[in-house]
Amino acid sequence: MNYRHAFHAGNFADLVKHAALLDLLAKMQAQPGPLSIIDTHAGRGLYDLSGDEAQRSGEAEAGIGQLMKANDLPAAFQPLRRAVSELNNGGATKLYPGSPLLVAAALRQGDTYLGCELRPEEHDVLKATLRGMPGAKTVCADGFNEAVARTPISGSVLVLIDPPFEKSDDYRRIVTTINGVAARNPKAVVLVWLPLKDLETFDAFVRDAEDAYAGALLVAEARMRPLSDPMKMNGCALVVANAPAGFTDPLTAICDWTVSRLGDNGKARVWTAA
Ligand SMILES: C[S@@+](CC[C@H](N)C(=O)[O-])C[C@H]1O[C@@H](n2cnc3c(N)ncnc32)[C@H](O)[C@@H]1O
Repeated sequence: MNYRHAFHAGNFADLVKHAALLDLLAKMQAQPGPLSIIDTHAGRGLYDLSGDEAQRSGEAEAGIGQLMKANDLPAAFQPLRRAVSELNNGGATKLYPGSPLLVAAALRQGDTYLGCELRPEEHDVLKATLRGMPGAKTVCADGFNEAVARTPISGSVLVLIDPPFEKSDDYRRIVTTINGVAARNPKAVVLVWLPLKDLETFDAFVRDAEDAYAGALLVAEARMRPLSDPMKMNGCALVVANAPAGFTDPLTAICDWTVSRLGDNGKARVWTAA
């Protein structure tokens, strides 16, 4: 496994995923009772944007670098901007939070977060990053299996599935995991992040997920450029099972802003697959 998120941290795709995650979290925390969050592919939790990987790729500068400077940011991006600003003590954006840190910092008393990370060296950093944060735990294990085994059978649950898509069976395993989680807790909310390279691969995934899952799926696409070169990541998408009421508008605002300000002749689309 060679995927290193440090090259991509803070890029447009992280912005879409993390802004949506924070909005979803706030909506679920507005409901009574504690919330359990399971992050199937956690990564290291914190990224140094002055490090070699981020500097070489330039993706953070084109992503979070632009977002922090924007003066037309929609409300749905404000919690992410606030979190990044706080992490950097209001100064230049040197550090970028991964999903574990964003979620762990937002936990209320009684909420829990489980970050699953398969690579031992990434897991060691993740564990150290979350040390002392109440309610946050990590496990060095396969996140697809852990999510199905550990989803609480009742109560409020959010599962984030964010694989590196290095393995050809990631798409199939996402579908299996959505269904495994739903079988344990039909009310669990599942947020899946996917790359957009070519439409055939994405459409086939949505069709498989629709066929296998009983409920409706909310789909948000941020196509950053026309999907003409399947070798490139031309955009990203989110697929949400059990999306709470009111989630479509912020998702639309997030995708629209990202595509229009950071993309090149792209297109945003939010729709329901049922
Ligand atoms: C895209 S990164 C995660 C980023 C993170 N969710 C965030 O938003 O900050 C994917 C991570 O999944 C890890 N990984 C790969 N396969 C895994 C698996 N089967 N279970 C758990 N983690 C896995 C990789 O080592 C990598 O750190």
